[in-house]
Amino acid sequence: MSTRFKVKKQLERLKPEIQKWLKSTLTPKRCAHIERVVKMAKKYAKKLRLDPYKVELSALLHDISKETPGIKLLELAKKKRLKIDSIDRINPHVLHARVGAEIAKEKFKIRDRDILAGIRCHTLAEPDMSKIAMVVFLADATEPSRDKKTTQSIKRTLEKYGLEWAVLQTIDSKLVDVIKKGKRVHPLTVEARNWLISHIRRK
Ligand SMILES: [Fe+2]
Ligand SMILES: [Fe+2]
Repeated sequence: MSTRFKVKKQLERLKPEIQKWLKSTLTPKRCAHIERVVKMAKKYAKKLRLDPYKVELSALLHDISKETPGIKLLELAKKKRLKIDSIDRINPHVLHARVGAEIAKEKFKIRDRDILAGIRCHTLAEPDMSKIAMVVFLADATEPSRDKKTTQSIKRTLEKYGLEWAVLQTIDSKLVDVIKKGKRVHPLTVEARNWLISHIRRK
C-alpha cells in the first residue's frame, strides 16, 4: 500500500472524530479558522503537487491546542519533555503548536513526520521544515481573514519565486510584527530564517 493511500485512509477514518473533538474543545471562531486553513492548505498542496491528504490532516490538527491555557501548555510541554525556551515561559501560548503535535500523536496516533511537523512549526517555523510543514505554515498565515495586503504579497511571491521564498517572506513579516510590538523574537524563528536562506542558496 502506498504512503499516499495509507494517509488517505487514515484521513477518511479520523476526520469525523477530529472534527467532533475540535467542535467540543474549541470555539466556533477557532473551528472556522481551521476550516479556512484546511481549504487554503489543500489549494497550495494541489498547486505544488504535494500529498493532499497529509496536508489536510496536518492543517485539520494544527490548532488542536490553541485554546489550552498557557499554564497547562507549560505543564504539558514539561510532561512531554519538550525543549522549553525562556520565551516559552514568558509567552507559553506559543507552545500550542509543539504541544499540539504531541496531542495529535497521543490522541489520534499520528506518526507521520510531515503531518506532525506541520502542526509543530505552524506558528514559529523551525529549521529543516518539510514542504508539507511549509504549506501548513503558509496556509495559517495567509487564510482569508489575515491582513489582505500582506497575504496578497506573499501569494505573489509564491507564484513568482516558489514555496521557500513565500515562507521566508512570511517569517520576515512575522518578525517585523513582533519587533514593532517591542516583543522578544523566538530563537526557533531566527533559526528557521537562517536555515531557509542557506536552503534557498543551495538550490
Ligand atoms: Fe496556531
Ligand atoms: Fe491557526
